[in-house]
Amino acid sequence: MSPAPSFRGHLWTYNPVRGSCLLLLLVMLNLLLCQGNPCPSCGPDVFATSLRSRTDLFIEVAWLSHDFHNRSTIMFQEFNETYAQGKLYHINAANSCHTNAFDFPEDRYKAHQLSNESITKWALVLLYSWNNPLYHLVTELQRTKELPETFVSNTEDIEDMSERLQAFLESHFKKIIAPAMKMIRNAPRVWSDVRYVKSSDEDRRHSELYNLFHCLRRDSHKVDMYFKILACRALKTC
Ligand SMILES: *[C@@H]1O[C@H](CO)[C@@H](O)[C@H](O)[C@H]1NC(C)=O
Ligand SMILES: *[C@@H]1O[C@H](CO)[C@@H](O)[C@H](O)[C@H]1NC(C)=O
Ligand SMILES: *[C@@H]1O[C@H](CO)[C@@H](O)[C@H](O)[C@H]1NC(C)=O
Repeated sequence: MSPAPSFRGHLWTYNPVRGSCLLLLLVMLNLLLCQGNPCPSCGPDVFATSLRSRTDLFIEVAWLSHDFHNRSTIMFQEFNETYAQGKLYHINAANSCHTNAFDFPEDRYKAHQLSNESITKWALVLLYSWNNPLYHLVTELQRTKELPETFVSNTEDIEDMSERLQAFLESHFKKIIAPAMKMIRNAPRVWSDVRYVKSSDEDRRHSELYNLFHCLRRDSHKVDMYFKILACRALKTC
């Protein structure tokens, strides 16, 4: 069974028996915390923290997003060179990214016009959109061992980096988690092409893998761009 878009780090289970006690506890905690704080559940916004810790945080995460994009690019290039020569996989690739359903700011200029919150939200939406495909990609590559081991380990690393980028955004920009999840829930299209990755027809399978690697490279570039804009704003180097 295919899992719903997974939002790692959050447990969305609900136990109805313990639920009401938990709810009461949460209400009481909120009441306690509310005194003197207008937005208790929002947590500290990273843009409001001191420059020193902000600098370190953003330098580290900008490297991570750089590696995320670098690794996705290398994977795509390797797949293209090894499996796509003389094939027509590229013809539909750009049109078939599942994330095309969203109206992401495409280029640096457009992204620079946006608020910190919007950029952060777009980065999180993009990363969330890849949880499901990456999960299936890793599972299938591990299972079939059809591609060389480097593809398996690269995809695992990419999934891990994506999780760490999400964890960074979720812990420092708590306010945008709900809006980002809402966008994912209301998405007109979700990735549902796992059947092609599992297809017994090699050409169909490779074509879908080509699409995935191509779209991942493209989207990881956007994610990296958003993180770099956030970093240069935080470090005031824009
Ligand atoms: C990825 O990073 C390595 C090491 O920093 C670099 O040599 C390589 O050119 C990069 N590749 C791409 C596609 O960006
Ligand atoms: C795929 O590989 C071919 C041959 O090396 C190259 O000409 C082509 O530009 C590559 N495609 C992309 C999108 O990089
Ligand atoms: C984003 O955050 C930075 C760092 O605190 C701030 O200087 C800048 O004005 C903010 N920019 C926007 C567009 O909200």
